[in-house]
Order: sequence, then structure tokens, then C-alpha cells
Amino acid sequence: VDVDATPVRPPTELAAAVSALPAGVSYGQPMRCYGGTWVFESWAQGVVAMHRGGLVPRAGDVLLASLPKSGTTWLKALAFATMARRACPPPASPDHPLRRLNPHDCVPLLDRLFAAGRDALLDELPSPRLMCTHMPLSLLPPAVADGNSNTKIIYICRDQKDRLVSIWHFRKRNVPDLLLQEVYESICDGTGFAGPVWDHLLGYWRASKIDLGRVLFLKYEEVLRDPVNTVRELAQFVGQPFSDTEEEAGIVAEIVKLCSLESLRSQKANKEGIQGVYIKFSHDSYFRKGVEGDWRNHMTPKMGEHLDSIMREKFDGSGLTI
Ligand code: A3P
Repeated sequence: VDVDATPVRPPTELAAAVSALPAGVSYGQPMRCYGGTWVFESWAQGVVAMHRGGLVPRAGDVLLASLPKSGTTWLKALAFATMARRACPPPASPDHPLRRLNPHDCVPLLDRLFAAGRDALLDELPSPRLMCTHMPLSLLPPAVADGNSNTKIIYICRDQKDRLVSIWHFRKRNVPDLLLQEVYESICDGTGFAGPVWDHLLGYWRASKIDLGRVLFLKYEEVLRDPVNTVRELAQFVGQPFSDTEEEAGIVAEIVKLCSLESLRSQKANKEGIQGVYIKFSHDSYFRKGVEGDWRNHMTPKMGEHLDSIMREKFDGSGLTI
């Protein structure tokens, strides 16, 4: 889905609604707080439009959801390769789409699509549609977020300390003098993009506990430890379990290999090119270290413990630990 080659959303009546929202600034970007969630001001009209019902669910829809820098790109690649495996050449083939396209071009980010005013493209996607959002469950249209919805949601979360470091490296590409401390504070006080993070995490976590068949809750660190099992779980969840023949042919391992950090990073489409409507990001910036615990190289144990203690307090009683 080529979202970026298009004009941006024309001014609509939503402009007035957005201008009435609380305003802030995060890493130099104007922000607005809509429904308790901080979003880029340039995306806010689109987010409101989506929330008000702009996304009309279709049977078989699968929605990936995450806070940025939680492993979204990886999840997109794994889910795309799994769900499209019957329509695409095998993962080991040089003709597989993930060898010529960035994963973000294979799975559209709804928030950006709506921000660009290109949501009509969603009607053109073949079923079952695979889409992605960084918005919390509370900002999805009721027909999608509702417990009775048949949209399947796969959420991925990550240790907030590693996520913080990942955000810092990523955003420094556009804001070279960005201090890690600024990112740290925005996560701790809940004003970072798509934050507060605890509301984001708890919304999907609780939904996953209520209905296991509707929300699959993944942790980046667990995917790192056992990607093969994650792919099997994911396939089962979307109703496309691997057959014995596929298992014997090693398709699961091939998907994991195709979607590994090294493999994706080495594809030409991921070494060059940029994307984004209002804020541009280079494709290669989505592939950095891909490890657990990198926060120790950038933060003091005290900072780490403080962030952990905020999360522990917010998650108290929910059963969620990250
Ligand atoms: P690091 O910056 O810690 O390396 P997102 O896709 O949500 O933007 O998250 C980006 C993070 O996921 C980055 O983390 C990136 O390196 C990591 N990542 C991207 N592709 C990956 C892959 N195939 N396997 C593991 N991690 C991956």
C-alpha cells in the first residue's frame, strides 16, 4: 500500500475538534491528547476519523497493534509471511514480497493511512485484511474494539526500558540533539506518542484475558526466545494453522529465517528508501540491534528501577508483567 506518495488529508470539520484538544510537544513534534492518548497533531484528525467509525470491519480482518519500537516491523513481517503464504512464493524463494518490499509496505499502518486521508484504500485490500495500529484499544472504532467484534488482534509489547532506548535511537535520526532523558521523562509521565503506555498495554492485556480467541498478547522477548513457536501460535490464532505437509517442508523455519533481523536488514528495500507522510523515516532505521537488555548500555540501574517501579504500580492486580 503506497500511502506516502499522496497528498495529505485535506482540512475537514475535524480540524475544529482537534484544535480544542489539549496540546503538548514531544521531541519537537506538536502533540494533541485525544481520548486520554497523546498523538501527533498531524495525525490527530485521522485518529479521530478512525475512532468515529472510519474503519469498517470485515470478516477475517487481523489487526496488529503495538506501541512503536515494540517489534512492530518484525511482527508485520511474520504475520504477513504467515497469512499470505498460500498466495505468495515460498519464503525461501527470491521472489517473496518481503525480499523486495519493506514490511511496512506490506501491512498498512491505519493511523498513518487515516492521517493521510487515504483510508479508502482499505476497501481495496483483499480479504483477509492484515492491518496495523499504534493506537490503544480505546481509540479503535467500537465495531472493532468491542468484545463482540470478529476482528482478531495481535498485540506485541516490550520491556519499556529497551523500548525507550530504541525510541531514542530512532528519533535521533530526525532530532540529532534529542536526549535520552527527554524520552525517559515522556514515558514516565505518559506523554510520549500513543501514551500513557500503561493504558495502552492494559487495554489490550485485559481484552486478551477476556477472550483468548480475539486478542493474542505477545511479548517481544518471548518472540526472540522462540520465534518458531510464535509463528505457529500466530498461524493457529488467525485460523491458518500449519499443515503436517507444511511442517515437514520446514515452512515455519523458513518464515522465521526470512523475517530475521539479519535477513530483513539485508534486503535492498530495507537498506534504502524512506516512508512517512508528515514525518519521514528511513527504512533502515527500523532494523537496529534487536536484542533484550540494551537499556543497560544507556541508562543507570536507578533509572531502570524507577521505570520498572512505575510499570509495577500501574499493572498491580492485572497479572501483567513486562
Ligand atoms: P532496537 O532498536 O532495540 O534494536 P518497531 O518495529 O516497533 O519500530 O521496533 C523496532 C525494534 O525492533 C528495533 O529494536 C529493531 O531493531 C527491532 N527489530 C526490527 N526487526 C526485527 C527482527 N526481524 N527481529 C528482531 N528485532 C527486530
